Parts: sequence; structure tokens; C-alpha cells
Amino acid sequence: MAMFFRSASLVVRQATALSLAGARRYSTGAPYQYILVEKKGEKQDVGFIQLNRPKALNALCDGLMKEVSQALDAFEEDSQVGAIVITGSEKAFAAGADIKEMQNRTFQECYSGNFLSHWNKVSTVKKPVIAAVNGFALGGGCELAMMCDIIYAGEKAQFGQPEILLGTIPGAGGTQRLTRAVGKSLAMEMVLTGDRVSAQEAKQSGLVSKVFPIDQLVPEAIKCGEKIAAHSKIIVAMGKEAVNAAFELTLTEGNRLEKRLFHSTFATDDRKEGMTAFVEKRKASFQDK
Ligand code: CAA
Repeated sequence: MAMFFRSASLVVRQATALSLAGARRYSTGAPYQYILVEKKGEKQDVGFIQLNRPKALNALCDGLMKEVSQALDAFEEDSQVGAIVITGSEKAFAAGADIKEMQNRTFQECYSGNFLSHWNKVSTVKKPVIAAVNGFALGGGCELAMMCDIIYAGEKAQFGQPEILLGTIPGAGGTQRLTRAVGKSLAMEMVLTGDRVSAQEAKQSGLVSKVFPIDQLVPEAIKCGEKIAAHSKIIVAMGKEAVNAAFELTLTEGNRLEKRLFHSTFATDDRKEGMTAFVEKRKASFQDK
């Protein structure tokens, strides 16, 4: 779906019409009920998705996750966008899958409908995704953050997989991604006790890369997005593909893939421009080609 931003007056008219219909923000041509979607950064090159279901602490109901997928699709198609930030509120990034929505589900419904499988979209987009986590990132909220490529945390953030307290286990990658991120002992402890870890503990264990004061978290995440977006999109995608392969392949296979992708960069104009600019002592101007 081509993402286009209409003239200011048209946007205002549409936003007014949509707010009457109960939608909260409008920018990609689609009305969203559970998220706010904008482009941020000086060059408007960072796609920004804010989970916006405050009364339920951003519990990830089906509708919300479908909207996140839609917004990601739109940003993938938008050639101006070079990175995406997903955030929540100061109180909650997301308090998990929607327990009220799940409460009466049967095994047959879960199995036949492959419940939660569409959440995977977040981990398959080509553009880098940064999670900016303030407040609770619990259950599916922690899993959503871990589907992103980089996690930044506000200093009061709390991460946890409390599904065990509900008589279930993580179902959106928690047992797998958490274990790869923090190692077996801490992952086991979190999954089997339901205990949360603080932003500082999350940083220490490698779950998040940086911790910021609450009010600086989102601006810092956008800054990181802008930094990535300034590089060649095609080379950034190769870098992301190579790092992600480390979670799937043996060292030999991973190194082979890395080498092939490294060689592939030599087929691009941007590799040539990057090295030429260095030699000519000027800033590279990447064309994403
Ligand atoms: N689903 C649905 N509603 C939720 C929710 C969730 N995961 N988390 C919070 N809410 C709702 C509460 O029901 C409450 O709604 P009402 O006002 O209508 O009662 C509202 O959000 C505010 O919540 P609290 O009153 O509980 O707020 P609090 O500040 O006292 O506590 C909290 C905050 C510790 C996060 C607590 O809400 C909590 O423990 N939430 C559940 C966390 C959880 O168990 N997450 C895992 C879900 S299962 C999962 O995610 C499976 C998976 O792997 C994908």
C-alpha cells in the first residue's frame, strides 16, 4: 500500500471526520483506533508507532496488533522511512496480550486459528525497528519489545514474563528470544517465577542496549532511528539480515552468509559512494541503490 501524506487541510478534514468516528489519529490513509502513527525526525524519516490503549495499559488485543502490522506495512512501503520506533506510554509499553480477550478461548480455537501467529510481522519487517520501553513490558509486551531490533528503556521500565501466574507460558517468542538475550538462568527464573527485572537489570543482562531518563527515552530512540535512516537503506537491510542470522544459523553458516552479503555490498552504488567519500574526505550521499 503506497503511503502518502496529504495536504495539511485535507488531513485536518479527515482527522476531524475520523475523530467523530472514534479513531484517534490518521496519517497513513488508514484510520487507527488503538495506535498513533506519525513520521518523526528532522527529515521525517523515522516511522513512529505509539500504542494507545491507556485504560488497558496497552494490552495487546487482536485489533491493536492488526493495526501495528498495518502501520508497519505502510512504513515498509514508504521510501522516506529508514527506521521505525515503537513505544507505549510512560506507565506501560504494553502489559501483555489481552487477558480478557483470551479468558474464554478454547484450545481448538487457539490451535485452529494459530493464535498470536500474526504478531510475527514485527520480527519480519526489513527496516530496523527500535522499541522504546517506559513502564511495564510484561508478557506479550516484553515479547513485542524483543521482536524489535534494538530495545531502549526508560529508567523505570520493568520487564517480565508473568504468564506462569495465569496458568500459561509465553506464546509470542518469550521463552526463545529472552533465553537468547539474557541466557538460560535468568530466562528460566523470569519465566518460571513470573518475577520482573528493572531497566538496569535488563541492561546488565543484555536485554536492552541503553537506559535513559523517562522523558528522554522517546527522543533518544528517534535520534537512533534518524542515525540509521541516514545510512543506505539497502546496506542497513543487509546488516540487519546478517545479525538476525546469528540467531538461526551455525557459526560456519552464519559467517558464510555474512561473507556473501558483504560481497553483495560491492554490487551497490552506495558501497562505492561510501568508500569514495571517505577517500575524498567528504560526507557520503547514499541513494539507496
Ligand atoms: N490484559 C487485559 N487487561 C489488562 C492487562 C492485560 N494484559 N493488563 C492490565 N489490564 C487492565 C486491567 O484489567 C485494568 O482494567 P480495569 O480498570 O478495567 O480493571 C487496567 O488495565 C489497569 O490495570 P491494573 O488496575 O491492574 O493496574 P496496576 O497498576 O494495579 O497493575 C500491572 C499493573 C502490574 C501491569 C497489572 O495490570 C498486571 O499484572 N497486568 C497483567 C500482566 C500480565 O499478566 N501480562 C501477561 C499477559 S499473557 C500474555 O501476554 C501471553 C503471551 O505470551 C502473548
